[in-house]
Amino acid sequence: RQAQARQKHHTLTDVLEKAGEAFRKQLKGSPRAVAYLKGRGLSGEIAKRFGLGYAPEGWRTLASVFPSYDDPLLEESGLVIVHEEDSKRYDRFRDRIMFPIRNVKGECIGFGGRVLGDEKPKYLNSPETPVFSKGRELYGLFEARQALREAGYVLVTEGYMDVVALAQLGFPNAVATLGTACTTDHVQKLFRFTDAVVFSFDGDEAGRRAARKALDGALPYATDTRSVKFLFLPPEHDPDSYIREHGRDAFARYVGEAVPLSRFLVECAREGCRLDEAEGRAHMAANAKPLWTQLPDGALKRQLLAEIAQLAQLEPGELAQLWGVSAPPGM
Ligand code: UTP
Ligand code: MN
Ligand code: MN
Ligand code: MN
Ligand code: MN
Repeated sequence: RQAQARQKHHTLTDVLEKAGEAFRKQLKGSPRAVAYLKGRGLSGEIAKRFGLGYAPEGWRTLASVFPSYDDPLLEESGLVIVHEEDSKRYDRFRDRIMFPIRNVKGECIGFGGRVLGDEKPKYLNSPETPVFSKGRELYGLFEARQALREAGYVLVTEGYMDVVALAQLGFPNAVATLGTACTTDHVQKLFRFTDAVVFSFDGDEAGRRAARKALDGALPYATDTRSVKFLFLPPEHDPDSYIREHGRDAFARYVGEAVPLSRFLVECAREGCRLDEAEGRAHMAANAKPLWTQLPDGALKRQLLAEIAQLAQLEPGELAQLWGVSAPPGM
């Protein structure tokens, strides 16, 4: 059974790789798609590095690549959709810029496809398949793995374009979650490649919510020898638009001034709480408890207990007792 699953995995990634090659060929033949990428400031070199392609208009263009278009394998790969009513098959990705998504081995496991205009949805992603799980994979991780070692940290963004633009403009150590929140699975995976994570989401309200979710995902992995930080861009920018408008050095300053997890945790806990009133301080402490509890034991956790206690105007021992956790000795 295991051998069979392995065989299936390779068959699916081979199908996806072959489609990716076809999309790359199509990009060369589509002045409109090339103009779109140029208009977004992308160089031919960076498009090549990320294997960008183009899925042309038309309902069955992949039939010329796969003569056995009706093979259930194409449906299983997510490339082909089977219409429910009449069982007719058609291409999932039509008239879109194609971003191949690779696993850490470099195998193609899915795609993100962007419209060239303002149509909705802006991005279409491969569905969950036996080889693709959005909650576990990170776009660009395979392409970034060498740069992660060199830079010593990873930038975690929201979008495909953020990763590609950052790579082109001097930050090849960027990855993106795939239209989902950053999960503990993502964080665990990232810490296999680096000791330092800088979350770099869009500056808008959605990006701030994403940072709050990423905090939750990162807390259990924030050991004393690791670093987790949060970078907050101006509300009108994402990393792509920011670095294009303001340049590499300005973005580097944001990286340098990223907020450490300890500070962000406290900021989240005190949000909306008036610390000049006992009620507000109590509320802050109550907010902090579920965050603090998730931290692994260590010096950081102890210091945060002391810091939260001080803000709450309690002794650390009192706060620990209140939370039903054993008070660190000497506190
Ligand atoms: P954004 O809306 O911030 O898009 O979504 P973007 O990456 O800045 O796109 P550009 O710059 O307009 O090209 C962030 C990410 O959320 C997912 C994609 O992964 C996207 O990169 N997303 C967004 C979707 O999956 N579907 C959508 O319709 C929109
Ligand atoms: Mn956004
Ligand atoms: Mn963008
Ligand atoms: Mn964005
Ligand atoms: Mn600006």
